[in-house]
Amino acid sequence: MDTAGILEVRQSFDDAISDVDNLNALQQLKVEYLGKKGKVTGLMKEMKNLSNEERPEYGAKVNEVRTYITEAIERRGEVLEEAALEEKLREETIDVTLPGRTFSLGSPHPLSRTIEDIEDFFLGLGYEIAEGYEVETDYYNFEALNLPKSHPARDMQDTFYISEETLLRTHTSPVQARTMEAQEGRGPVKIICPGKVYRRDSDDATHSHQFTQIEGLVVDRNIRMSDLKGTLELFAKEIFGAEREIRLRPSYFPFTEPSVEVDISCFKCKGAGCNVCKGTGWIEILGAGMVHPNVLEMAGFDPDEYSGFAFGMGPDRIAMLKYGIEDIRHFYTNDLRFINQFKATEDGGATNESI
Ligand code: PHE
Repeated sequence: MDTAGILEVRQSFDDAISDVDNLNALQQLKVEYLGKKGKVTGLMKEMKNLSNEERPEYGAKVNEVRTYITEAIERRGEVLEEAALEEKLREETIDVTLPGRTFSLGSPHPLSRTIEDIEDFFLGLGYEIAEGYEVETDYYNFEALNLPKSHPARDMQDTFYISEETLLRTHTSPVQARTMEAQEGRGPVKIICPGKVYRRDSDDATHSHQFTQIEGLVVDRNIRMSDLKGTLELFAKEIFGAEREIRLRPSYFPFTEPSVEVDISCFKCKGAGCNVCKGTGWIEILGAGMVHPNVLEMAGFDPDEYSGFAFGMGPDRIAMLKYGIEDIRHFYTNDLRFINQFKATEDGGATNESI
């Protein structure tokens, strides 16, 4: 009986297993020796060439080598598994002594902040926020606001035309025309409309071809100029400080009659005269007036029954005054060195409010 084959298998296995250093290789080795086409199974197949007397002893020897190999693979497997686990734990160790990562927290843009402050104030008075379209028709931007095609006051607002009848809105007033129209002649209307507007201006420190406006409109029975004045006085105190006063100066807008320009007493010098108010003690902040009867009528309201007031302000200018910003372009160039100066504080203010 030739048992040299058995010995050979065992020796080659011993050599091979000493090189195995990972679980994959061990699995391969297992297949190579114990699998269906493996070397140990190959030894078993030799049995058919042996005599009946030889078979039991040969069989016992092959079994012995099979047990030997099986156990060796098991032991090796345990060792390798433990090593793999240790390696994994080592890799996943958290070094609690490392310094934490700092997150860079964003902050509201000073312009958005100003718009939100103004919205909050008017929402508190029961106004609703209405929105319109930045691409408008000539009709809503001008005609419905008492500015027919030949009206000289159209020159007050240099317009970006897209076609003869479509344009980039030059103010947020078309939203008041649209909102009134949708009411089909029934009041009350009490809205503010914040949004972007466009004018063909050359950009400089105080002009931008795109800026923001907030329009306000109240239409109901018995709305009077004193309602407008009271509202704007409250507004000035809320946004610019409790001691502010307002002053109305006669002005002209085609969509309001009478029209006024509204000044607030200077928050910096308290009226004495300084660089912010250019020595006058007053700062112009918005335009306003009583809605022109033609505008009411075109939007389907009966001007004998209803009256209203409207106002329009520029949050850019208000934010510039409030935060002491000297150039409107800072709002739109998004330089982080600028924006980072306006970190929100916990009380809801901003760090460099000048009021
Ligand atoms: N729409 C005007 C403008 O842009 C502002 C305004 C609005 C004036 C409402 C009066 C009433 O100049």
